[in-house]
Amino acid sequence: MDNSRAQWGSKLGFILAAAGSAIGLGNIWKFPGRAYEGGGGTFLLVYLAMVIFFGVPLMLTELAVGRASQSNVVGAFNKLGHKGWSWVGWVGVLGAFVITCYYSHVGGWVLRYVWGYSVEAPAIYADPLGYFYDTLGLASDGSTHFPWVAILFAAIFMACNAVVIIRGVEGGIERFNKIGMPALFVILLVLLVRAVTLPGAEEGIKYMLTFNPEKLNLTTMLSALGQAFYSLSIGMAILITYGSYLPRSEHLTRNTVLICAMDTLVAMLAGFIIVPAVFATLGADHVGKGGGFAFVSLAGVFEQMPGGRLFGVLFYLLLLFAALTSCISLIEGIVAFLTEHFSWERKRTTVLVCIVMFLIGCLYTCSQAAYPLKGIWLDAVNGLSHPAFCDAMEFLTDRLMIPFCALGCCLFVGWCWTPENAIREIEQSGLRFGLKKVYALIIRFVAPAAIIVILGMSLITGTTLS
Ligand code: PHE
Repeated sequence: MDNSRAQWGSKLGFILAAAGSAIGLGNIWKFPGRAYEGGGGTFLLVYLAMVIFFGVPLMLTELAVGRASQSNVVGAFNKLGHKGWSWVGWVGVLGAFVITCYYSHVGGWVLRYVWGYSVEAPAIYADPLGYFYDTLGLASDGSTHFPWVAILFAAIFMACNAVVIIRGVEGGIERFNKIGMPALFVILLVLLVRAVTLPGAEEGIKYMLTFNPEKLNLTTMLSALGQAFYSLSIGMAILITYGSYLPRSEHLTRNTVLICAMDTLVAMLAGFIIVPAVFATLGADHVGKGGGFAFVSLAGVFEQMPGGRLFGVLFYLLLLFAALTSCISLIEGIVAFLTEHFSWERKRTTVLVCIVMFLIGCLYTCSQAAYPLKGIWLDAVNGLSHPAFCDAMEFLTDRLMIPFCALGCCLFVGWCWTPENAIREIEQSGLRFGLKKVYALIIRFVAPAAIIVILGMSLITGTTLS
């Protein structure tokens, strides 16, 4: 084994870094909207079940593969003696690469809004949509321009990531997460208190706590499953890579449960912030999700809320920490692969991939509104279509690469490396794993079947993971 391989400096450092990877934009701007669509309390219950039945076993599996192999995501399959499966790792790295291209740009927009609420909140309030579009290169008179504001902030965001990654696993990633994650929790609590004490918030809270049986349908279940995968960073280079920096003495099960619990807690808290706040200000039917909601609709919430500007800054800071810690994990998965597979030097590799991903990401930002750049996409309903480049990038990762990589991991562990080996790795710390049979059943049959349904649905009906 390669003794010079990096390791986490502490258990807490690993947990915070892995939780930092999981807790991202998905938790804060996707989960509340999905929870609202899925009937509030109904969705929360279904989501919880998905995390327990699929999230925990899959995360455990990826961490076990990583730790057993002590290798990056492509090397992992080779080291475990199954070269033929390294395509799973390649899909993971490629997925992480494409996601980082756009995640880093969205991170840049978030940074722009931290700045925006700090210095020019009235301009945002006056025309939230216009402000957003202007950032992306579309002026209010309909003319377009190069979106230099968004791109400048994306460059700053990417540079922050690079600085952390260059400093290494312990000195960079672990240290950053030890500051970023507690900050994220503090901001989350402040926003929660603000949201639930708004006059009229009770309706939203009630909605989130009410079980609505009509919403218990296949759509809600798929939405919850897709959200759980994306939110837990499953199906990418990341958990295998982070697991490979873990010492053998660590209890994988306990750590996995803790990371999943933290991620779920943050998603739920975000739900209990956003849904009640929107109910109290704009009205129930304004709860939405994604960039348009986070950057445009929420302006109305902050405008109407006492102290809204301060809470606006705090909200975008929350998003910023969430995006940074996730983006760092994505880049680490790629850098670990390149440095180990090709023996490249860490610092140069980091700078190079960050620049390349930033540049490709510029096409993502430019294609939002400023330029009509097209991508390619094939699905059963529309055949070959040419959506905006930015959408094509998201389709490619959310609907294809993430589920494929997750499926590959399940099939690899379920049928090739065998659940027995995974369990042996899980028990390395000396702690007995009591759910062996259930675990094997999920990894072999249940999880692959569920992922195939997701893959099929996404190609046929356009259901998306994120
Ligand atoms: N889990 C992150 C989120 O919820 C997204 C992400 C996906 C991060 C994949 C890293 C890898 O936003």
